[in-house]
Formats: sequence, C-alpha cells, structure tokens
Amino acid sequence: MLTGQELPSTGNGQGSKTARLLQQKQQYVSQGISNLAPIFIESAKGAVIRDIDQNVYIDLYGGIGVINAGHCPESVVDAIKAQADKLLHSCFMVSMYDSYIELAEQLAQLTPGEHAKKTMFVNSGAEAVENAVKISRAATGKPGVIAFEAGYHGRTLLTMTLTSKVKPYKHQFGPFAPEVYKVPSAYCYRCIYKSTYPDCGMHCLEAFERFFISETAPDNIAAMIIEPVQGEGGFIVPPKEFLPGLKQICEQNDILFIADEVQTGFARTGKMFAVEHYGVIPDLMTLAKGIASGLPLSAVVGKAEIMDAPTPGRVGGTFGGNPVACTAALATLELMAKEDLSSRAEHIGNIITGRMRDLQQRYPQIGDIRSLGAMVAIELVKDPRTKAPDKEAVGQIIQACFNRGVLTMGAGIFGNVIRFLPPLVITDRQLDTALDIFTEAVAEVFGK
Ligand SMILES: Cc1ncc(COP(=O)(O)O)c(C=O)c1O
Repeated sequence: MLTGQELPSTGNGQGSKTARLLQQKQQYVSQGISNLAPIFIESAKGAVIRDIDQNVYIDLYGGIGVINAGHCPESVVDAIKAQADKLLHSCFMVSMYDSYIELAEQLAQLTPGEHAKKTMFVNSGAEAVENAVKISRAATGKPGVIAFEAGYHGRTLLTMTLTSKVKPYKHQFGPFAPEVYKVPSAYCYRCIYKSTYPDCGMHCLEAFERFFISETAPDNIAAMIIEPVQGEGGFIVPPKEFLPGLKQICEQNDILFIADEVQTGFARTGKMFAVEHYGVIPDLMTLAKGIASGLPLSAVVGKAEIMDAPTPGRVGGTFGGNPVACTAALATLELMAKEDLSSRAEHIGNIITGRMRDLQQRYPQIGDIRSLGAMVAIELVKDPRTKAPDKEAVGQIIQACFNRGVLTMGAGIFGNVIRFLPPLVITDRQLDTALDIFTEAVAEVFGK
C-alpha cells in the first residue's frame, strides 16, 4: 500500500504488462482519446502514483486539477464505501436523498455573495457550462453569449464553440453553436493591443464599447462566461481590474456574469474560489473537477431567482448529483476545511513560483511565469524578445520529467506552457524533490 510519503523511482521501466496494455489500447480505444504518460496506474495516494510496473511518480498535474484533496483521501474513500453499501443510484429527479440537499446548502454558503442561492448538479464541467447557458437564456430571454479568446469550457457542441483553441478542440467539428461572441482576454504577456499593463488603460475593457456597436447589442446577450484564471489557455491571470470591470459592464447592460471555476475552484488558487481574489460576485458559477476528489460531479450555483428561471423538468439528467458523488463531495469539502487546503495552496504556489523565478534567471527561454495560489505555469519561448512560442521544448521537458518520475503537463493556446496543478496535500519534501527533478529536466533540454 502506498503511504503518500513516497519519493519517485522509475528503475523498473516499462514492463511487459504495460506494453501489452498499450497495444490493446491501440487496438480497442479510439485514437481520439489520447494520453500524456504511457503508464497504467495501479494505485495512488496523496501526491504519489504507482504504475503497474511498480514505478513511483510524483503527480504535479493532479488529474488536471481534480485531485486537490489528494489521491484517495482516507475520509473520502471511507464515505464513498459507506454510501456504496446503502445506495448507488436512484436519479434525484425521480426519488431524492439527503446528500444532494446538504451539498447544495454547503455550496450556497461557500460561494461568494450573501444573496439567496440555488444549485443543480450534473456530471462534468462541460455539462455545467451547458446548463449555465440554458439557465441564463431562460432567465433573460436573450440568446447571445460572450466568451473569451484563450478560454476553455469543454468539448460538447456548445462548450466547444465557447472554447478558443482550434486544434485539437474545434478543427473539423463544426458547424458550431450560434450566438456565441468572442472578445480578447487580458493576456498581458501577449496583449493583442501591444500595450503594457498598467499603463495600457485596460484596452481590453474599453473594447466593449466598440463590441456593442460593431458586433451585437447588449439586448441580444444573455451572459458573459469567463474563467477567472484561464486554465487550458495557459494559466492566464488577469490584472486586478479586469474581472471587476467586466462585472460592471455586465451590470450596466443586463448581462449575467458566469464564472467558470471548473479548474480554478475548490482551494486551488489559495481561496475556495478564484473570483474571491478579485472581489467579484458572479450571478452564476460552474464548478466541477476538485469538488468530489475524482468522482464525476459538477454544479451550477447561482442567484436563486436566476437558477429558478427554468420551470420544473426543464433541466437535469439521469446521473446528475449521484448519491455516491455527492457524499464524496461532502467528505472532500470537510477535508479541505480541516486541512485548510487554501492556505496550503498559497504555500505550494509560493514555493513553485520562487523556484521558477530562480530558473528564469538562468533560462531566458522561460518568458513568463504566472500564478494564483497553486495554479502555476511557465510560458516557454525561443527568444524572449520575439516571444516565439516553443512548444517543442514543452514536450521535451515533460518527457525528461517523466523519465525521472515526475508527471507534469502542458497548456496554452500555442501549446508552449507547462502548468503545475499538484495535489494540495503534496509534502514539502515531495515538492522540493519534484522541483529538483524539474530543474534537471530543464537543464537537459536547454543546457546547463
Ligand atoms: C474552465 C473549464 N471549464 C470546463 C471544463 C470542462 O470540464 P469537463 O472536462 O469536466 O467537461 C474544463 C476542463 O478542463 C475547464 O478547465
């Protein structure tokens, strides 16, 4: 059994079991389902993963921001086991159970804003976003949705339309959903107005005046959806004025503000939700990933009168708010509070960011370092003056880390970002070891 305290060891290499499974994967699994690391996991605990060949890896991507409370936390696993003995499924829309209600109540208390709030549960981040848009349309009677360049909201037809990266997410998957409008995000490192913050005067906010004249009028727009920190886009952390400025534009124009906190939520950024850093109170929030330690569950939480816009039966789904997933979420939230994982995220983020700054002194190819809590990324460029994206280096560094027992992954609309999303229970020793290995990997690729 893993204890969660292990350090990496990859001496066993790839054994025959792994080779056979890889071959079976090729034969039986659609190639569209890609994989980053060519390993098959036997078990995982805390921030440690062991593969079927008994190699041990430190996990710095946490199931893409899901494993905030660590792999297989004991209290969550116990709660899941106990619930599984009692009830696996009934469909809440047919006959109900208390964990759904209790979780909705807790989310109403945990999310920002003192107003009355209501929640609905579904299964994935994309499904939450789809429902947030449906609810916004029902509440406002308007069709349009504004989304942001470099944003990511999922892979269903509507959420893929809202997403802003052609390959691999959109290419050849059109035609897309109508009434989706894109505006630039506050990607300061690559500002499309070629301005520099803070002297820029926030052109990205001013652009809305033109948008409502040249693209569509506010009376056509139901909602604006934004990730407080753009995740797949490369951990793009906006200046402090951006989200409050957008909220003001929404309020002035009767447009609902949806915060997509699928990746930023649940203690990841040093607060329970990233919007709290910006003092913004969204009308609706979409939540998923870290909510239930890996069980499929997502939520739309928002102002009660908006959430009530669809009349009974008009939203929902067979599996949404499954009792085992709701129980896992309740246990996860309890653990997050008990272990104060928000403070831990701040601590982890400071360590990673400090180490990346040291590395940047030696390697100007690290063009930008961005972070909010334990959501940290570096953007790699061929030359810091031209900022030409270096996607190849990202792949090489990820591979060099993997060879040494550290799992990390890329991001960014140009694919030239390495992101860190470690489980927030990673020990300081494991984190230091992983970052030492990361440093070696960078040296292998860029030279000593
Ligand atoms: C901000 C954001 N929204 C939505 C999604 C889609 O979530 P899912 O993959 O669970 O559908 C993601 C997934 O990465 C995300 O990061």
